[in-house]
Amino acid sequence: MKKSFEMLVHMRRMLAAAAAVAGLALALTLTASFPGALAQGQQPNPNVRPPANAVIPGGPNVVQPERPGNYDVEMWRKVREGLQGQVSIPDRKAGQLVQSGGEAWRNLRNGPLVQYGTWGLAASIVVIAVFYLLRGRIAIDHGWAGRTITRFSDIERFGHWLLAVSFIILALTGLNVLYGRYVLLPILGKQIFADVTLLGKWLHNYVAFAFMAGLLITFVLWVVHNMPSWRDLIWLAKGGGMLVKGVHPPSWKFNAGQKILFWLVMLGGLSISLSGISLLFPFQTAVFSKTFVLLNYVGFNLPTNLTPVQEMQYATTWHGIIALALICVIIAHIYIGTLGMEGAFDAMGSGQVDVNWAKEHHSLWAEEELKKMEGVAAAEVGARVTPAE
Ligand code: HEM
Repeated sequence: MKKSFEMLVHMRRMLAAAAAVAGLALALTLTASFPGALAQGQQPNPNVRPPANAVIPGGPNVVQPERPGNYDVEMWRKVREGLQGQVSIPDRKAGQLVQSGGEAWRNLRNGPLVQYGTWGLAASIVVIAVFYLLRGRIAIDHGWAGRTITRFSDIERFGHWLLAVSFIILALTGLNVLYGRYVLLPILGKQIFADVTLLGKWLHNYVAFAFMAGLLITFVLWVVHNMPSWRDLIWLAKGGGMLVKGVHPPSWKFNAGQKILFWLVMLGGLSISLSGISLLFPFQTAVFSKTFVLLNYVGFNLPTNLTPVQEMQYATTWHGIIALALICVIIAHIYIGTLGMEGAFDAMGSGQVDVNWAKEHHSLWAEEELKKMEGVAAAEVGARVTPAE
């Protein structure tokens, strides 16, 4: 029995080590395969081939256009810089002939965004694997009590799973938009990849509403439990007891780490939702101009009369940055909620947690809940033994 347990622990450690190596390998392989990621050297993207009769800038077949006598250099410089003219049709953006920012946006999106995103994702996996190797699974120090208390009600778990499942679908379909062509396209081939991506796009657009609903439900239910308190500082100073066995700083329903996660998910989720809505209804909103106006009140110096095209470029970039950051955070959350901590999953599974788990990880909350339960039990016994009048 002891031997097979040791073998299990050994196998888990091997798995964690493999995950760490795989995370690193993933980062290295992906980085090497992004054509856009190498944009520093501005190498041409082999996936984007110019038409056969295209004139390659700087190539042997370059023909310098002849400038007419009345060629207005200054005017064309302004056009190249994005001069917005007047048009009599409703589509205001048709008044802009050249939007050079598009090239900068494309380089940013296919370069640093994709590259740093990969490093971030790989780093989360590596950090978690190393943490597991060093700390192992956080056990219930006093063992299972065999008695449970209710941690989350049905509506709380409904809200959490609506948020969680929708987030995971959005994350996978969103990652496909960023990385699919480097990772899935070579494996699936063009036709299947196109079908998968189209399905992913529809899912992404519609599941976004489930995510917003989950965000709203969990915000309403949990915001009162996530207000900062002085105890959070002690919890943080002790590293939440995560690093040392047997250390359990007191906490109410949510500890400081969970409060940080809560606010990251709420604020990040709101930001992702707003930028997502402006992508879902293109050229209809001015989320960034309005946000920049507010930020300028507190000392920033950001452009406030963005063109509709610039609005879209800011929206896609910001949406991608926040999504990647949240995915990194959520990878750690899923680890702690499943493999990383004994007894934790029950809180969101059945809603009932072991009393010893509760006393160790949320002692102040557990004390209060147990007192309430004892009060109810005493009242029930009292009602039974009091003779009817
Ligand atoms: C397979 C995926 C997931 C699992 C297994 C999981 C598990 C859990 C568990 C067990 C708790 C309760 C912790 C406790 O009792 O103290 C929890 C809480 C929470 N989860 Fe998840 N979760 C998952 C995905 C997500 C996702 C994708 C999000 C957000 C996008 C999310 C957001 C939250 C929040 C805000 C809380 C409350 C604060 C906290 O406990 O950290 N979860 N989750």
